[in-house]
Amino acid sequence: MTYLIFEPLHPDFGAIVSGMDLTAPLSQEDVKAFNDAVDTYSVLLFRNQDMTDEKQLRLTKAIGEPEAEHVAYGRTGEVVYFGSVGNIDDQGNQRKEAHDTTKYQKGNELWHSDSSFRQVPSYVSILHAYEVPGEGGATSFVSERAAYDRLTAAEKDQIDNLRGLHDYVFSRAKRAPVDDNHAASLPPVAHPLVKTNPGNGRKNLFIGSHVRSILGLSGIDSRALINDLLEKTTRPEDVYSHQWAAGDTVVWDNRCVLHKGNGFDADKWRRRLRQTRVVGSEVGQIPA
Ligand SMILES: [Fe+2]
Repeated sequence: MTYLIFEPLHPDFGAIVSGMDLTAPLSQEDVKAFNDAVDTYSVLLFRNQDMTDEKQLRLTKAIGEPEAEHVAYGRTGEVVYFGSVGNIDDQGNQRKEAHDTTKYQKGNELWHSDSSFRQVPSYVSILHAYEVPGEGGATSFVSERAAYDRLTAAEKDQIDNLRGLHDYVFSRAKRAPVDDNHAASLPPVAHPLVKTNPGNGRKNLFIGSHVRSILGLSGIDSRALINDLLEKTTRPEDVYSHQWAAGDTVVWDNRCVLHKGNGFDADKWRRRLRQTRVVGSEVGQIPA
């Protein structure tokens, strides 16, 4: 991938990538370079992308299998590949702070990995910014790979073979109620607490707000461990916060990165981003 240029976003992870136009059809060589960059940097920022939904779906399909957006699918069975992030509806109207959808999206302001609660979690999320607020509305990222590396040998030994139970209803209910159909479509699923990147062998934590408990531990011990790991992963110095510019496309590796939205004044500003995801390759277990 010698034709790509990388500038670091944070000492632990992330890069601004130049040398690739995501809005043009990608060659096999481009796709390999893209995947290698994901494995290496975890968060990729491509600036000034002349994106449309059509081009973003083509990009998503070039990388892998597009993931059906779980909210629409859970509620109605409809398969759609795009999620809208922000406060603009499909007709271009601004949703204010009091709107239910604005409240619902505040669940994204907890540290999480997209779709970690699915039996097959996602590989990458691809988020493109069309309209951004004049203040607020950044997206923050941390590396669960760097966090794992910082643990002591004893801490690693303690968690290496544990599994976390990921439960969407558990996490989202902290912010807004979940539709019954949607809740029924997402039974809690167990994933390893420590994952290994198949490309480079690097290990990482796999945690976040969707983790309800640890299999085999009591509720109290589960929460103590989950909270301790999350605290060690998300210290202020570990965070890269991306302040969006219109035209930015950010890609992140949900296998090893946590992210969260940051609030903005939905009464004052318009914020519109469009997200697709690529299905991952690891399969979690739904406990009987
Ligand atoms: Fe997210």
